[in-house]
Amino acid sequence: MKLLMIATALTGFACADSLPLIPLPVSVTAREGAFEFSAGTAIRFDRDLKTEADLFAADLQALTGTAPKTAAEELRIFLHSEIRLDLDAAADLPAGGYKLVISPGAVVVTGKDSSGVYHGTRTILQLLPPRGAAIWKDETPARLPALEITDYPRFGWRGMMLDVGRHFYPVADIKDFIDWMAFHKLNTLHWHLTEDQGWRIEIRKYPKLTEVGAYRESSPPYGNRKSDDGVRYGGFYTQDQIREIVAYAAARHITIIPEIEMPGHAAAAIASYPELGNTDIPGYAPKVMTRWGVHPYTFAPKEETFRFLEDVLGEVCELFPSKFIHIGGDEAPKTQWRESKFAQEVMKREGLKNEEELQSWFVRRIGKFLKSKNRRLIGWDEIQEGGLDQSATMMVWRDAKWARHALALGNDVVMATTSHTYFDYYQNPAAAELAKGDEYEAIGGDLPLAKVYSYNPASVAETPAQEKQILGTQAQLWTEYAKDMKKVQYLAFPRIAALAEVAWTPHESKILDDFLSRLDGIMKHYDAGKLNYCKPAGPPGKEGRDGSRPESPVGGKP
Ligand code: ACM
Repeated sequence: MKLLMIATALTGFACADSLPLIPLPVSVTAREGAFEFSAGTAIRFDRDLKTEADLFAADLQALTGTAPKTAAEELRIFLHSEIRLDLDAAADLPAGGYKLVISPGAVVVTGKDSSGVYHGTRTILQLLPPRGAAIWKDETPARLPALEITDYPRFGWRGMMLDVGRHFYPVADIKDFIDWMAFHKLNTLHWHLTEDQGWRIEIRKYPKLTEVGAYRESSPPYGNRKSDDGVRYGGFYTQDQIREIVAYAAARHITIIPEIEMPGHAAAAIASYPELGNTDIPGYAPKVMTRWGVHPYTFAPKEETFRFLEDVLGEVCELFPSKFIHIGGDEAPKTQWRESKFAQEVMKREGLKNEEELQSWFVRRIGKFLKSKNRRLIGWDEIQEGGLDQSATMMVWRDAKWARHALALGNDVVMATTSHTYFDYYQNPAAAELAKGDEYEAIGGDLPLAKVYSYNPASVAETPAQEKQILGTQAQLWTEYAKDMKKVQYLAFPRIAALAEVAWTPHESKILDDFLSRLDGIMKHYDAGKLNYCKPAGPPGKEGRDGSRPESPVGGKP
């Protein structure tokens, strides 16, 4: 922290306390002087970094209004002012790491790999004044303080989960969200594509999934979750749109992990193909759900279902190159399996003691299929309730005790606990939010910025080996209360900045007040990007920003 402040003193950098960087880099050393950046500054790049150079050039053009010259390194064109993008696979850095050297004569980003270079360019963008700043309108160059940064991520999985089942967002909105993730050096978008209330991914072999399953007849309005607006609602992504989004994210070094929910949260799929459900139970009548909450419709454990799911996952694997495929597994009520003679016979045949073991049997079959496709299965922590398969990775959402259980068994985990990462919870007291209007409704809960910032995903590990089993962390954007991307932004920002620092920066380097003062600089970029973020109340250290505040009297238990 001290070094950041020295850098400020030497260069007269605009931000009062420290460099406006989030996540905080691993190490920053101040040097003397500054680099003068202007519309005339060019980009020289290693030939393997053309994508990164082109994206960076477009970002700089958005600031200055002028497309910077770009030149591959072998072109010996004289450029009087340049930012160099280099690769050094032998650099003593973890994957995704980079060094950034800013001197009066040049700026050099050297990445361990192309993602490291991309991260380095995000750091430069945070150091520059935001889009629309007065400086870009006159001829004055922007001064980048001379310094040396060595930086790399704490975790390889730095994610956001976005639920498009409850509400559906246009392609342009998803791309914009990806850009903001990249700005914070997040690298994993967990895309929750199927839900009780809507199936959102085109599957060629099963057209009714989107003809029927992508639409519901009504939704609860904001402010009255127990009622119905009576308005038909829906939408889905075509396979071409999915390819477009996956490629867009990949160029920005973000992997998209698709989630196909099973055996629960499957009402939309079962409404599309009713033969896949537990057809032998009393009153069987699946439909795409119109209310939030947990619903009883689960896939039946029959061969037809496995054929269907393998076909679906086969198409999913063709669309998404991610190593991990998420199969959901959360909140699958066992009522229908208890009532179904067929499900009970499967349990007897397979020697399964209870319905939890039936779910684990179900998950193991899907895991085998994914393995045949050279993919890894990840699921919510319920997948261990009837025995956890050795090869499964667990996404821990309910309680850290499930993480300890999985770590002890030797399984990998991703930490996504409700306590610190559920961004559908209120970030200010619920009463204060609801006083602004029904559209500020959240699911409930209480997750202020400071609490997100305090998270240590590795605290559950008891040994260094277990620490390595923690792949990383992510925040969840369940979207019952987010009808559009503006509301998603309001829930996500600025908590996403805290999450980014949790996932990237060494835990021992995190200081809340310092983060909050750097956030002031980052919020100028949010303002410039017209991001609809939730403004933290009061100055750093005051009530509302340090996490101490009155009990929230409104808002149900999520
Ligand atoms: C979850 O919140 N049901 C994973």
